[in-house]
Amino acid sequence: SRRINIAIDGPAGAGKSTVARMVAKALKYIYVDTGAMYRAVTLKVLESGLSTEDNESVGRLANELDIVLLPGAETQSVHVNGEDITSRLRSLDINRNVSYVARLESVRLRMAELQRQMALEKGVVMDGRDIGTHVLPDAELKVFLTASPRERANRRHLEMGPDAEITLEQLEQEIIERDRLDQEREFAPLLQAPDAHLLDSTGQTVDEVVKQIVQWGLAAT
Ligand code: C5P
Repeated sequence: SRRINIAIDGPAGAGKSTVARMVAKALKYIYVDTGAMYRAVTLKVLESGLSTEDNESVGRLANELDIVLLPGAETQSVHVNGEDITSRLRSLDINRNVSYVARLESVRLRMAELQRQMALEKGVVMDGRDIGTHVLPDAELKVFLTASPRERANRRHLEMGPDAEITLEQLEQEIIERDRLDQEREFAPLLQAPDAHLLDSTGQTVDEVVKQIVQWGLAAT
């Protein structure tokens, strides 16, 4: 059967990366986590001391970075200029700054270009915020995956384990704030594409959500 591209968008903590990875595995497709790319740029911006308001300098930095996504069995790893930075992308510091870097047009243009290249040969499951609306508007299957803010915060907090440096309530507030920034930015905001399937995973298991998306995927091939 023909290969298709699958776009999975939605707010923070909706389970997109877990679900997208499992869908890719089931269909033998390649999983692309675009959030990790914005996180990688943010890490480099913070390291370099640039202001997250400086569209031009941050854009130049983003253009010079060699970002490579390596699909793995459990998580995808991210290499920047030859260095594996995967384990450093999930910090609170990056969570708190990434939406400011991601709203810069210069950064988005560069990331979208890289993402389109990765999807050229089809057979990609790509998760993010603007994949269905902007990066891959012709994706054969688009899903907008959401869950209630409390449930999303809860899942993230559980992932952090007993050593979480943040309370559930703080985390929920930070997630709501990140969604607001992502929705209100001018260029390629977080938005459900008109032709996307809306999937609310509140109260659903990961397996149920994956099964639904795989079914839609097979129907579209
Ligand atoms: O998916 P994840 O939570 O890792 O994404 C981190 C941030 O990267 C998002 O809050 C958003 O600001 C940005 N992002 C984006 N467009 C994408 C993917 C992520 O703006 N396609």
